[in-house]
Amino acid sequence: MQLYIDTANLNEIREAHDLGVLDGVTTNPSLISKEGADFHARMEEICRIVPGPVSAEVVSTDHDGMIAEADQLTAIASNIVIKLPCIPEGLKACRTLSERGVKVNMTLCFQPMQAMLVAKAGAFLVSPFIGRVDDISGDGMEIIQQIRQIYDNYGYETKILAASIRHPQHMVQAALIGADVATVPFKVIQQLMKHPLTDSGLEKFLADWNARADAQKAMA
Ligand code: G3P
Repeated sequence: MQLYIDTANLNEIREAHDLGVLDGVTTNPSLISKEGADFHARMEEICRIVPGPVSAEVVSTDHDGMIAEADQLTAIASNIVIKLPCIPEGLKACRTLSERGVKVNMTLCFQPMQAMLVAKAGAFLVSPFIGRVDDISGDGMEIIQQIRQIYDNYGYETKILAASIRHPQHMVQAALIGADVATVPFKVIQQLMKHPLTDSGLEKFLADWNARADAQKAMA
């Protein structure tokens, strides 16, 4: 499964990139606003750090506005992916951009038929938001499962990007189902390599090693 980071924070992106396992980046208008940065300048900086797909989201809600924004965003770097909302105008814009060879990430996906239609429109990625469904007592993972089965039944090539990930167990479940990508906040990326038995085990190994070295010194 590919790993993207879901942030517009440069320090987080650099740190995650340094781990050597980062495949891409997703941003959205809320994440950009949180940074208080110029949108296009920030996207350019992100694309300089990460060579993989970097999603930049439009804020227009009509087809022509989306295309005009996409034209500006794709001029920033060759790895920009245009993020469009799963609304009818977004679907039309997805078709237009996909036919031009522009990669599209269809976001705010909350049910499998949205995912099927965006696949038919040529989307590169679809982003079902797991955590936001769980937040309202739904089952976000069930949506991933259903999309996986529909895509496999018909051979749709759109990649399933599990989004709105809240904790490592979301990643485990998404990987078991066969999501192609997960986009993960920095805090959760840090948790992915953590286990208390790893920490206590390492502490014990090092303590034993140092005790051995001390004993050898005493014998010398
Ligand atoms: O990639 C989508 C993601 O940013 C949404 O996450 O935590 O705002 O539900 P969240």
